[in-house]
Amino acid sequence: MTELVVVKDEGPIRVIRMNRPDKKNALTQSMYSAMAAALETADADPAIRCVMIAGSPGAFCAGNDLQDFLQAAKGEAGLGETTMRFLRALASARKPLVAAAQGIAVGIGATMLLHCDYVVLGGDAKLSTPFVALGLVPEAASSLIAPRLMGHARAFSLLVMGKPLDAESARLAGIANVVAPPAETEPEAMKAARAIAALPPQAVAQSRALMRGDPAEVIKRIEEEGEIYKERLKSPEARQAFEAFFARKR
Ligand code: COA
Repeated sequence: MTELVVVKDEGPIRVIRMNRPDKKNALTQSMYSAMAAALETADADPAIRCVMIAGSPGAFCAGNDLQDFLQAAKGEAGLGETTMRFLRALASARKPLVAAAQGIAVGIGATMLLHCDYVVLGGDAKLSTPFVALGLVPEAASSLIAPRLMGHARAFSLLVMGKPLDAESARLAGIANVVAPPAETEPEAMKAARAIAALPPQAVAQSRALMRGDPAEVIKRIEEEGEIYKERLKSPEARQAFEAFFARKR
């Protein structure tokens, strides 16, 4: 079976690739686990100096698997601990995080970019967070980080109204560093990762920690959002929205 998350070390750079292109890289619980483990072990390995997160051409990540959400909404499956492990690993990562995102980036596919230190978007990138339309609330501490980054009004439009951002708007909002032609997205991100990896690692780690502040604040918000999110998942509003998604092509 193809691995849904491919983790490969290229010298000092750990590449974590979401690899479920037929489902636009929608994340299942096992994918969250694999990504969390890849981040945690990168932190523990002194040979790794930078982590790059990538997806597929046309699809960085379509967010949480809605089938998993539907099952959780029906009470048929628990949900959350592996997602929370991934979010905590993201927020407390000590190695610099670079993202290469082409195409769609939905939900967690967009909000994980807020935790990255250097983001390259393909010109075809489209970031959207339809949390509220799905009966949910923002996650991954996006309710804290996005307003700080882009101001309340722009964050409200993205996180509550669900209005997408194209690549250039995301760059202007401070989410991304560079917009590249889609095929150049990964080479451009790898170039940045190599440049970061070539710097003195302790000075990088200390500078980054100073800039990021206490991860406990971010983790606290992830947990607060998570509590509400879990309740919202079971709401009739959410269940109807998940069912509507799977009924759309019938
Ligand atoms: N969970 C589960 N499956 C998903 C998915 C998700 N989040 N996103 C896409 N897929 C699946 C589709 O069901 C489809 O599967 P099928 O071929 O078996 O029918 C396949 O991926 C391709 O998706 P499709 O909708 O045909 O592609 P598209 O290019 O027309 O649209 C999206 C892409 C991402 C815009 C659209 O799939 C979408 O809106 N997905 C839901 C995103 C979402 O709401 N995520 C949760 C955020 S909290």
